[in-house]
Amino acid sequence: MRDNRSMSAKIKHGFWSDLPKPFFILAPMANVTDFAFREMIAKYGKPDVMFTEFVSANGLVSAGRNKLLIDLKFSNKQRPIVAQLFTGHPEAMKEASILVKELGFDGLDINMGCPDRAVERQGGGAAMIKDRENSLKVLEAAREGAYPLPVSIKTRIGYNKNEIQEWLGFLLEQKLPALTIHLRTRKEMSDVPAHWDLMPDIVQLRNEISPETLIIGNGNIESLNEAGDRISQYGCDGVMIGRGIFGKPWLFSSLHYPRHVGIPKFSSHSAKTKIQDLKSVSLAAKNDIRFAKRISVPQYSSHSAKAAIAPLVRSVGRILGDAINIEDRLKIMLEHTKLFEEIFKGIKNFAVMKKHFKAYVSGWEGAKELRLKLMEAVSASQVDRIIKKYCG
Ligand SMILES: Cc1cc2nc3c(=O)[nH]c(=O)nc-3n(C[C@H](O)[C@H](O)[C@H](O)COP(=O)(O)O)c2cc1C
Repeated sequence: MRDNRSMSAKIKHGFWSDLPKPFFILAPMANVTDFAFREMIAKYGKPDVMFTEFVSANGLVSAGRNKLLIDLKFSNKQRPIVAQLFTGHPEAMKEASILVKELGFDGLDINMGCPDRAVERQGGGAAMIKDRENSLKVLEAAREGAYPLPVSIKTRIGYNKNEIQEWLGFLLEQKLPALTIHLRTRKEMSDVPAHWDLMPDIVQLRNEISPETLIIGNGNIESLNEAGDRISQYGCDGVMIGRGIFGKPWLFSSLHYPRHVGIPKFSSHSAKTKIQDLKSVSLAAKNDIRFAKRISVPQYSSHSAKAAIAPLVRSVGRILGDAINIEDRLKIMLEHTKLFEEIFKGIKNFAVMKKHFKAYVSGWEGAKELRLKLMEAVSASQVDRIIKKYCG
């Protein structure tokens, strides 16, 4: 009996119940977090969970399906990986969810926050905030099709105004395994700072309605340090990072070290010693560091241990970002470009890489000139030549 109960909990929450806490997620970003970029991120700094870019469920059940399948390509290195779909049509959602399950994803997420007019016209994305009845139908269809995969939702705090009680309260009643909240309204798009101050109300609502639902905060987080601070301050279970990853596939790299060395289990004294070791290791082997923000949050260490190691974690935490010198950055960018070309040749326009070039090549004297040259490139071999010339 006991075993059966834990099995059903496992099925409903799936991989979400196995995540460390706090956890950090790569946000879905259309035309950015494609297979190639996720592969780079998996190599240089894997987050706890990755999401695909969103894919139209309507498209997946239409004649154009084959063209969209590339957006659902993933590798085992990217696990746990969640496919994100959007639609306002329950039947399309059900059929597309079956496909998601058959493709072997770890979870399915429904986009209920995208402000794009084309998405909203289909009744999907943020339009769902205005139509609870249909959003429930779409959720039920997804659950039916994807079963036993866990089905989560990513949304915003409201359409034109803060609708936390009504909208998030309604979603929490559906007993989701995880709910990601981009802390802005649909109307605000991404034009104002995310309302992190609302997170405690959301967490309290979750505690009252559905204590088992994981709450993931999203919006304006640029680094793991910031993410850790938000979690400590506001009490959500995880943070999702979007634009902060632009040009920095190594952004999540600091997550792994403490898991290997088990720092959270150490006493404050030994934790401190370990961190000191870590600091020297990191100085010696800068690109292969695994350091930690996670250890500075309360769940992982006693208060005194936390206080002792926090400054070191911060200084170590800054090392990798700064330590990636220009040459290494450009090498990673070239590797990304080659992979993009290999995977998407004839499928996606090479111009997609240009927003990555802008992000990789920024922040040093001479970056602008190099960027301008890269904007003219139409192939990985041209990028290779430009970089070689630049590096002399
Ligand atoms: C280029 C771009 C594409 C995006 N595509 C998606 C998407 O496919 N699905 C989704 O749920 N959100 C999408 N978003 C929203 C992000 O996932 C995230 O919610 C938003 O950028 C706020 O987080 P950030 O401040 O960390 O970037 C996209 C955002 C950007 C900038």
